[in-house]
Amino acid sequence: PPLYIITPTFRRAEQLAELTRLGYTLKHVVNLLWLVIEDANQTSPLVIHTLNRIGVPYEYFLAPMPEEYKKAKKTKPRGVSNRNRGLEYIRANATSGVFYFADDDNTYDISIFEQMRYTKKVSMWPVGLVTQFGVSSPIIREGKIKGFYDGWIGGRKFPVDMAGFAVSVKFLHERPNAKMPFKPGYEEDGFLKSLAPLNLTEIELLASNCTEILTWHTQTKKNANAAALNVSTYGDTNLVELNK
Ligand code: UGA
Ligand code: MN
Repeated sequence: PPLYIITPTFRRAEQLAELTRLGYTLKHVVNLLWLVIEDANQTSPLVIHTLNRIGVPYEYFLAPMPEEYKKAKKTKPRGVSNRNRGLEYIRANATSGVFYFADDDNTYDISIFEQMRYTKKVSMWPVGLVTQFGVSSPIIREGKIKGFYDGWIGGRKFPVDMAGFAVSVKFLHERPNAKMPFKPGYEEDGFLKSLAPLNLTEIELLASNCTEILTWHTQTKKNANAAALNVSTYGDTNLVELNK
């Protein structure tokens, strides 16, 4: 079955480095379409150049964050319009397979992609480096989900990280109203709730019954100087100028 990897991205100094690292990870995975969706009003020639250079089959779309949310200082719904655009593509173009929300800055062991490929409804697994707890994971007793371990439960039914679940395309098609809410902190929970009916007992457990960490919520240190200069740090026209 095909895999659809939905990756939100946005312009900042680290963007092309993130896409390059993720792209070469995805290059190890067969039968995969990479849906790269940028939070921007204009396409980026640098992103397109980078995606072509990596050589993973991809589609590139724009999905700007609505203005009303952009104004918020700390708690923006990051990547939500991007992911909903990805869902729209899948509804229009995919008939089978599995999709996964892969943020551009995380770290992924390629074995998780082969495991998630056979998801019937929704699959879950642990994510490392989430909050001070160090890991976010379903808690398993006798092969069944007994609860969730996460540094912030926040009254959520599904206190999981974006990198910790995958969904079958057929399951999505049977739920035409499923989408991600513009609700900071509740994006995963809101989306998974919108997939109702979905019982905890139906969730398929990967990574050896959630005993292994195969995905990490890594965060790249910001380079304030590069950000101030608005340099993209790869193939940017600034470098062309510099080398004249
Ligand atoms: C945390 C969670 O781990 C994510 O799963 C969740 O998507 C995110 O919060 C969220 O705020 O919803 P975090 O590392 O804090 O992740 O978020 P980022 O990595 O900064 O952003 C998540 C994704 O959205 C990234 O792929 C990023 O490229 C994209 N993004 C971020 C945008 O498209 N626009 C933005 O303005 C910021
Ligand atoms: Mn992140």
